[in-house]
Parts: sequence; C-alpha cells; structure tokens
Amino acid sequence: MKYLLTGGTGYIGSHTVVELLELGHEVVILDNLANSSVKVLERVEKICGKRPAFVEGNICNRDDLDKVFTAHQIEAVVHFAGLKAVGESNQIPLSYYHNNVSGSVTLFQAMSDHNVKKLVFSSSATVYGENNVSPLDESMPTSATNPYGQTKLMIENILVDLAKSDSDWSIINLRYFNPIGAHASGLIGENPNGIPNNLLPYVAQVAVGRLAELNVFGDDYDTPDGTGVRDYIHVVDLAQGHVKALEKIDAHNGCHAINLGTGNGTSVLQIVESFKRVSGRDIPFKIAPRRAGDIATVFAHADKAAKALNWQAKLDLNAMIEDTWRWQSNNPNGYE
Ligand code: NAD
Ligand code: UFG
Repeated sequence: MKYLLTGGTGYIGSHTVVELLELGHEVVILDNLANSSVKVLERVEKICGKRPAFVEGNICNRDDLDKVFTAHQIEAVVHFAGLKAVGESNQIPLSYYHNNVSGSVTLFQAMSDHNVKKLVFSSSATVYGENNVSPLDESMPTSATNPYGQTKLMIENILVDLAKSDSDWSIINLRYFNPIGAHASGLIGENPNGIPNNLLPYVAQVAVGRLAELNVFGDDYDTPDGTGVRDYIHVVDLAQGHVKALEKIDAHNGCHAINLGTGNGTSVLQIVESFKRVSGRDIPFKIAPRRAGDIATVFAHADKAAKALNWQAKLDLNAMIEDTWRWQSNNPNGYE
C-alpha cells in the first residue's frame, strides 16, 4: 500500500515511516520542515535500506497537496503535520489556528476531491481537558485549555462532521498520551528546536551536559511523591499503533477516537531516577513552581485500542529511557 504521511519527517512521523517501510509499504512524506530536518531521510534509509518519497511542501497550500495526490495513488493519509508547543500557542494563536486547523481543512478538502477517504489523525490526550479523572477513556467529555489543545479538538470535531456528511470516510483520531523514547538504532529520535518544553528531552539534555539543571514544576500535587504523573509511551509502540490503525481502517467506517497510551502513570521524580540509573550521569534538579495549565495526573484507559486495533504498548519505561539516552548520547546536537 502507498500511504501519505503529512509531517512525516517529524518525531512521531519518522518512526512511523520506519515501521511502514519495514512492512514493505510505500511512503510519501509531505513536510515543510518547519520543525524537522531533511537528514531524517538518510537515517531512515540506514535503518530500513529504503528511502521514502519526500515532497517539501505545506498542507496549507492546495497546489502542494494536488501535486502529491496527482503523482501518487494514495491509499490513506496519516496526518501528523502541525505545530505542537502549548506555550507558544498562547503567544501566537493565529499561527496555530491557521497552520493546524486551516491546513487540516485544506488537506481534507484535497483528500475528498482526489477520492482518498481514509485518514488517521494525530490527536492528543490534551482534548480531555482538566476536569476528567484518570484513567481517561474515549467516552469522556472533551475540552481544551489552550490554543494548541483547541486546534486538536476543532480538527476532531471537523472530522466527526465530515464522516457524518459522507459515509465513504473512515477516520481514526488517535489520542496520544506522552510519547518518549527513540528508535533502538539510535539513528532517529526527538530533536526539539531551542530549549525543550517537554520533560524527557529536557532531562536528556541535562544528562548530556547541554543544560545545567532540570526545573521540576511542582512537588505539592496530590500524587505519591508530589510531582506530576503522566502516561509515557514508547514512540515505537506509538508508531506501531498507526500501522494497526491503517490495517484496521477499512473495518472502521465513520469517525472514531482511540487512545494510544500504556495505562500506567510515572512521576517526574521517577523519570529522573530512571534516567540517572540508565545514563550513569547526574541529573541536577530543583523544585520550581507549578507550570500554568498542568494537572496532577494523566493516564489512559487503554482497552479500546486493544479491542478495536488489536494493539497494546509493549515497551516498558526502561526501554523508553535507554532508547532516549542512546539517541541523545549518539546525537548530542540532534541531526546537526
Ligand atoms: P514534530 O514537530 O516533530 O512533527 C510535526 C511535523 O509537521 C514536523 O516535521 C513539521 O515540520 C511538520 N509541519 C508542521 N506544519 C506543517 C505544515 N503546515 N505543512 C507541512 N508540514 C508541517 O511533532 P511530533 O511530536 O512528531 O508530533 C506529530 C503530531 O502529533 C502533531 O500533530 C502533534 O500535535 C501530535 N502530538 C504530539 C505529541 C507529542 O508529545 N509529541 C502529543 C500528542 C499529539
Ligand atoms: N515537567 C517538569 N519540568 C520540565 C518539563 C516538564 O517538571 O522542564 C513536568 C510537567 O510539569 C509534567 C510532566 O513533567 O508534570 C510532563 O510534562 P511534558 O511537558 O513533558 O508533557 P505534558 O503532559 O505537559 O504535555 C504533553 C504534550 C502536549 C499535550 C499534553 C496533554 O507535550 O502536547 O501532553 O496530553 F498537549
């Protein structure tokens, strides 16, 4: 099968490219390189012995989309492309709404016009908002607390309406929990621009000596050690979840939301301890005030993915941290 992956040179996209190529599928990537490096393509080739087709282009640009759908017979689209920094989305909301929401609508219109009506969309656990109590399941009410989260929720709602309007569509909104880790080869991984916002890339850069110390945002939450608890999931498990979604998409006419998480919670201090043990490096940290918008505990109810996709996460926290460390220590400056 030939699949189009928007945002396919990014963190989660590149790992999904590897899983699809290794299964013998063909992959076309459309990415404007806003938050990724074209060097990913060489690394993917080193891992799989194959290179995906790459088009440098923007989902907001209808011509770029038409060229891809005309040149390639696409079976289904996995839509990763988007801006994803929560803090930045508060500073430049219009860029987020334009890029993520308008870009997605342009993509869906192009898909419809080219009669490609199978879609897997990168949604997020952020759509559960701050009022639901974990484990979070797909039937819970959704809400958003920042422009980034709003874009995910708006796109999910657009897709629900689209599937209602035309029964030819099969759509899966995958709600990711906290993806971490890297491919076991150490050749591809997360490569954030500037100072990382997320915990794992920050800890990894402290361990490698690029950053001096970690700020632990709050130690007075109602959690076992007072620090925030999240459902960390290995990016390779997550990538395999997309493969399963593509394999099962024909059985899922309409629009469906499915969590991709492990169902387990891990605290910030547990992450720091594991990282110290795996890397053999010190991770200096200090307790800092709570970060605005954070909640105490977020983890998934993971049964729907098991039933609907025959998927469950396999890799444990140790593998997540070992693979993050291998990637970070082999590539202290990312792809540069
Ligand atoms: P990423 O930034 O590494 O990848 C996104 C890719 O999209 C980048 O390569 C970027 O260059 C590209 N892109 C952005 N705007 C584009 C546009 N207009 N046209 C073409 N390409 C464009 O991010 P990621 O971590 O791989 O995330 C992938 C998707 O998963 C995103 O939609 C993100 O919101 C979602 N998600 C990520 C997380 C996470 O913690 N990483 C959690 C939940 C959901
Ligand atoms: N944290 C720190 N110090 C840091 C960074 C994070 O203590 O320097 C803590 C946070 O307070 C939180 C935990 O580490 O308790 C995880 O924080 P991340 O920023 O790594 O992840 P979040 O759960 O806040 O955010 C992630 C995604 C978002 C998504 C959100 C909701 O990055 O895109 O999950 O699902 F919106």
